[in-house]
Amino acid sequence: MNENKRLTFAIISHPDAGKTTITEKLLLFGGAIHAAGAVKSGKSTKKTVSDFMEMEKDRGISISTSVMGFDYRGRKVNILDTPGHADFSEDTYRTLTAVDSTLMVIDSVKGVEERTRKLCEICRMRKTPIITFINKFDREGKDPMELLDEVEAELNITVCPMSWPVGQGQNLKGVYSIYEKRLILFNAHEIQEVENSLIIDDLESDELSKRIGESNAARLREELALITEIYPEYDEELYLSGELTPVFFGSAINNFGVRELLDCFVDVAPGPGTFEAEDRMVEAVEPKFSGFIFKIHANLDPRHRDRIAFMRVVSGEFEKNKIYTHVRTGKGYKTSNPTAFMAQSRNIIDTAIPGDIIGLHDTGTFKIGDTLTEGESVQFKGIPSFAPQIFRTVVNKDPLKDKQFKKGLDQLAEEGVVQIFTKLSTKQKLIGVVGALQLEVIQHRMEHEYKSTCKFEPVDFQTACWIAAEDKSVLDRFCGDNQSKIAQDVRGQLIYLAPSKWMLDRTVEEYEGLRYFFTSDFK
Ligand code: G4P
Repeated sequence: MNENKRLTFAIISHPDAGKTTITEKLLLFGGAIHAAGAVKSGKSTKKTVSDFMEMEKDRGISISTSVMGFDYRGRKVNILDTPGHADFSEDTYRTLTAVDSTLMVIDSVKGVEERTRKLCEICRMRKTPIITFINKFDREGKDPMELLDEVEAELNITVCPMSWPVGQGQNLKGVYSIYEKRLILFNAHEIQEVENSLIIDDLESDELSKRIGESNAARLREELALITEIYPEYDEELYLSGELTPVFFGSAINNFGVRELLDCFVDVAPGPGTFEAEDRMVEAVEPKFSGFIFKIHANLDPRHRDRIAFMRVVSGEFEKNKIYTHVRTGKGYKTSNPTAFMAQSRNIIDTAIPGDIIGLHDTGTFKIGDTLTEGESVQFKGIPSFAPQIFRTVVNKDPLKDKQFKKGLDQLAEEGVVQIFTKLSTKQKLIGVVGALQLEVIQHRMEHEYKSTCKFEPVDFQTACWIAAEDKSVLDRFCGDNQSKIAQDVRGQLIYLAPSKWMLDRTVEEYEGLRYFFTSDFK
């Protein structure tokens, strides 16, 4: 078999840092699109639920931006979209379980922001390699060293600058690529294309002073000497284990610094890796096929109930029309139209290999986390649910439609739109989501797709986590003492609904051996 050249990654960032812009530039470099404006931005915190619905209804766009593939320098690059604005949801987290590495985009004016922190934490937990792009250097932002310090301190990762900006904002003169040992000059009036970027290879040359001025040239030489002293050299092993991040500076909107980033990225980013299953590690090079579903995309058009299940191929080769085992049900599964994604088009494919993401047309067979194999009972780990941040009690407004209500909620839970919990004491249903807009989406979808009207009522706790204890008597005592605050998730695992973070910390001290988990795969 040929060496697998897939590079499957996701971009993590806080909204507005430039994810959409950089995705577009990467696709332009990869020749997958030919004009800017082709990638639809999730745009703006101002988004309303109706905008979101409109966007989702535009099925072509939202599905084809879920995975964007292109070829670059011999590698097949797959960018997995991580919903980030109003549509931030568990899908964003789960997408990170299907990639081999990530690109983290940081706004040089704002520095490390909340959403980046959270997503980076998940990457660190999973040891996913991270490459960093500090964007918007055409604006007056924070000092580059200050930014590096911030990344290192806040994200608990070693930084290794691979490029270095010359000036900033109005005075941005260029970016020196430490990786390629050359300077690329910035011309604010002309968007940089690969062909016309001005390049200076020799830092001692007169040309350098002529182009950026004697003082800038001297400063660049000085700073480069300093950063070589301060920061460690690039270490592949540390990058691959997610402990060190190579950092690039630039301005995505000006297409500046992006090619340097992409070139390094395709050199260093890992190909399809090993995935942890419950009983063993599954390696990409294994001959037998295995893959898992990490996202299910529903069609909001009520006339078409079909869905698309996104599957990451982990090992072996997936073939069209071949019968595989759907591990959860033990039944056979066959498809005649698996879909691959290339930028904005979708094509039916015959085969797929590790690193590929394929779309499977689904009429209700799949749940998030389901596995397909050639027979082995593999269950991949690390496709957890994350403790939701927003909870509500959900009440069916029309008792005659109880069946529709239950079915709707169950299906939305299968898609991963919502997590459902049942309070042990009252059997009351609770729902949990990670983004506020999801509540409205749920209401809208329940009404339009399942003809069920529901309302939400506030809850009297602030935070929740899964609980476990090696000594069962500790768990029993805890549950007994806190009966009204214990619920079960759909898998029967216990969850503690804590009135406050403070209570959470306190109870840990009171019940020795009790443990809290913020993702559901703690076993
Ligand atoms: P996101 O997907 O991470 O949310 O960010 P997006 O790319 O949509 O960028 C957010 C805003 O930042 C956009 O401006 C975009 O043009 C701008 N931007 C991206 N990269 C750069 C950069 O290198 N320099 C500067 N100065 N701005 C940048 P907007 O006004 O919200 O939208 P638009 O009207 O420009 O599209």
